[in-house]
Amino acid sequence: MLLKMLKTAVQSLVAPRAGTSAGAASAASIEYPLEVERKLSRLHGRAQADRHLDILYRDARIGGESFAELYGRCLQKTGTAVTPFNVFQRFQTRLDLARYFLATLDLPGARAECGAYRGATALLLCHAWRSRDSAFKGRDFYLIDSFSGTSASVEQDLIPVRGDDGRTRRDAFFPVGKSDAVADEVRGYFSDFPDARICPGWIPQVFATLPERDWAFVHLDLTLYEPTLAALEYFYPRLNQGGALLCDGSIFCPGAERAWDEYCTRHDIAYVTLGHRETVLIK
Ligand SMILES: C[S@@+](CC[C@H](N)C(=O)[O-])C[C@H]1O[C@@H](n2cnc3c(N)ncnc32)[C@H](O)[C@@H]1O
Repeated sequence: MLLKMLKTAVQSLVAPRAGTSAGAASAASIEYPLEVERKLSRLHGRAQADRHLDILYRDARIGGESFAELYGRCLQKTGTAVTPFNVFQRFQTRLDLARYFLATLDLPGARAECGAYRGATALLLCHAWRSRDSAFKGRDFYLIDSFSGTSASVEQDLIPVRGDDGRTRRDAFFPVGKSDAVADEVRGYFSDFPDARICPGWIPQVFATLPERDWAFVHLDLTLYEPTLAALEYFYPRLNQGGALLCDGSIFCPGAERAWDEYCTRHDIAYVTLGHRETVLIK
């Protein structure tokens, strides 16, 4: 029954709709990320975000603990800002991440977050691990980041911006080398997980500092095309069978999405895209 439903859904998705042409649709509907952000910030800012979060996540638990409370504590401890624009994206994607993380916990291999920033998500995942193993102190968990912000954007990373004259130009969104994440401070946030490895350095060069080993779970949150592609090239071949690789998506990160799609297409790898444009593969 479920299989039949899925087949019908897939067929209706791939069948062309009468009267539409891809060209006409895309020309009329450029998505301007800065405008979307402004609109959602306004809307979410006026809504009762706490009430929505309560309805959405009150039943979600990590071990015996409320997911929303645990993640809220991780955000607070690491001083990670949540904005009206990204609050729902953050909570939903982090719950999904924790679920994939726990589902792959029985596999051998190390775990990594690439693009750890101030460590809020990595901290959540360490707590998730501890919910299954009270003696867990961070062993085999790696946080990788330049701790100096993003590298340079390339063509694939540019986003459409509508100028005052109404014309569309394409700009880089992320400034190079700007960050308020400091490796030593992040180490401090992991005092409950002293064996977690903080690996500062630019991707791809930082990969040379990692031990040669296999991996069970890797989260990519690098925002840009080049480091995302380099991370896929490094981790996918080292990922154990059954292991999960996930990549954050966003209207501000077309390059990361492009890198993921190109890599998976080139290697004929199947993956899924979830509600906030995040992508997931299971090897
Ligand atoms: C969106 S933030 C990560 C947020 C974090 N995962 C979280 O959930 O709080 C992106 C991170 O990628 C890092 N980054 C971007 N390009 C990089 C590169 N080439 N090498 C290393 N780190 C990079 C930035 O320093 C930044 O901290």
